[in-house]
Amino acid sequence: MKVTIDNISIDVAPGTTILQAARQIGGEVTPPAMCYYSKLEGSGGKCRTCLVEVSKGSEKDPRPMPKLVASCRTGVMDGMEVKSMTSEKVLDARKGVTEFLLINHPLDCPVCDQAGECDLQDLGYEHGGAGTRYEFKRRTFEKEDIGPYIQLHMTRCIMCFRCVFTAEQLTQTREHGILDRGEHAQISTYLNKALGNEFIGNVIDVCPVGALTDKTFRFKNRVWFTKPLDAHRNCECEGCSGRVRIWMRGDEVFRVTARKDAWNEVEDTPEGKPGWICNTCRFEKKNTADWIIEGPSQINRHSVISQGHYLGLKKPKDTLTELMGRAPKHLMDIHQVSDVNRPEIDLSLIKGPAHTDDFRHANTAPQHKEINLEESGEG
Ligand code: SF4
Ligand code: FES
Repeated sequence: MKVTIDNISIDVAPGTTILQAARQIGGEVTPPAMCYYSKLEGSGGKCRTCLVEVSKGSEKDPRPMPKLVASCRTGVMDGMEVKSMTSEKVLDARKGVTEFLLINHPLDCPVCDQAGECDLQDLGYEHGGAGTRYEFKRRTFEKEDIGPYIQLHMTRCIMCFRCVFTAEQLTQTREHGILDRGEHAQISTYLNKALGNEFIGNVIDVCPVGALTDKTFRFKNRVWFTKPLDAHRNCECEGCSGRVRIWMRGDEVFRVTARKDAWNEVEDTPEGKPGWICNTCRFEKKNTADWIIEGPSQINRHSVISQGHYLGLKKPKDTLTELMGRAPKHLMDIHQVSDVNRPEIDLSLIKGPAHTDDFRHANTAPQHKEINLEESGEG
């Protein structure tokens, strides 16, 4: 079937949804998707972030569809024409949906472990407003402990159902679900049970926001300070791909996750199966010796995680020196101003990334000196 999205045509197999067709084209025409997850049956149709305008229904019936449609749940028809980024209506609707999702979601990105890899954060940057019009109290929930490995922050949940589908389709025993309705709806184990199934850690990877995070990694590091490497091990656990991404800082493995594809979904294995991983690989194999390391992970260069990790980086020529005919003079020595690191340590010269030991202890750090640049003659 031929479908045209934002003036780009593509031939797809019957049964393909508009979202899948857009993903085949790739790039900006692809609508955002907060609840659809291609590896989970029945997912999609919950969040409305993937709305698109169908300006021509099909070759046989060219009438446009009267309302915007959820692209993850609408199949293509031959000759269909779709507007995604090129439709004012769609952009306005995405703005509305983003505002709606953020009504109850706390703006706690500075303390949230998902920051830097959060789909809602990205959606907020792309389609969100600068302020909020919401004046009421946000939803709060009783804190619930769901076990030693997974941290549940119910206030951040956007009710996408992905974790419920994961538990239902991947694990033999489903121990959690969505309870109650409407504003009271929440992810819970109900009987305060720990989520103990060997594959339950995958709910962390599918959660688009910071509602389910890895307790073994929490607050240990910002994800953009770590270095992702692709690695594998011969895991004997049935159903575990053993193909992971290890997130390192220096020689320490801070976190293990499944590998993600361009859509932030678990990547397929070479055999074409979703690369889910077991809890043992995820939570218990935190030594480099546990893994056969393949090399640096390819991270989308627009992601904050790729900052400082570019592959094949070409530094631009230093034209200043060429123009001035000499190297520029340093205006100040940062050590005189910051007092952050120990004076005998030059952060630019240490091997590998800086660790806590390289910095002054918070209690002993002297106050920042105020420097009068005019007096010091350095202005
Ligand atoms: S906890 Fe995460 S994955 Fe589960 S429904 Fe909420 S947002 Fe979705
Ligand atoms: S991704 Fe389509 S409705 Fe959520």
